[in-house]
Amino acid sequence: MLLPLSAPQSRVCVTGATGYIAGPIIERLLRAGHTVHGTCRDPSNLTALSPLMDLPGASERLRLFKADLMVPGSFDAAVQGCDYVIHVAAPVVLGKVGPGEGRSKIVEPMMRAVDNVLDE
Ligand SMILES: NC(=O)c1ccc[n+]([C@@H]2O[C@H](COP(=O)([O-])OP(=O)(O)OC[C@H]3O[C@@H](n4cnc5c(N)ncnc54)[C@H](OP(=O)(O)O)[C@@H]3O)[C@@H](O)[C@H]2O)c1
Repeated sequence: MLLPLSAPQSRVCVTGATGYIAGPIIERLLRAGHTVHGTCRDPSNLTALSPLMDLPGASERLRLFKADLMVPGSFDAAVQGCDYVIHVAAPVVLGKVGPGEGRSKIVEPMMRAVDNVLDE
């Protein structure tokens, strides 16, 4: 389901809160008055999370949940009660992927991850 720009205040789960793409998404959601459930693998990673926690509205409307794409059931708490899920977390592979490795290193983990996030 698409989140309309003029949506009434909603609860939105954004996976991969520490990531490059997720940050501006979370900022825009908070600025628009929505409540955000952000997921990360390490909630003690203040270097990555402090900029999010300092965003306007974050102290009232941003909750962080520990979740790993490779762990079934890991996202259940984060998506609970959410109207929308914006699934951005991804096992990003830096550097070269060798011939024949794309499926096992990228495609299969991504597919398993989508199952884990949307299985709730
Ligand atoms: N950056 C771009 O310009 C761009 C453009 C088009 C599309 N995209 C796509 O957008 C997606 C995100 O890209 P990005 O640039 O935001 O990547 P990124 O900055 O590397 O962020 C990836 C996020 O995924 C999380 N993550 C990785 N493995 C995980 C796992 N096993 N369990 C839970 N979380 C995990 C990371 O969390 P941790 O903090 O736990 O590592 C991080 O928050 C990718 O699919 C990418 O291909 C990116």
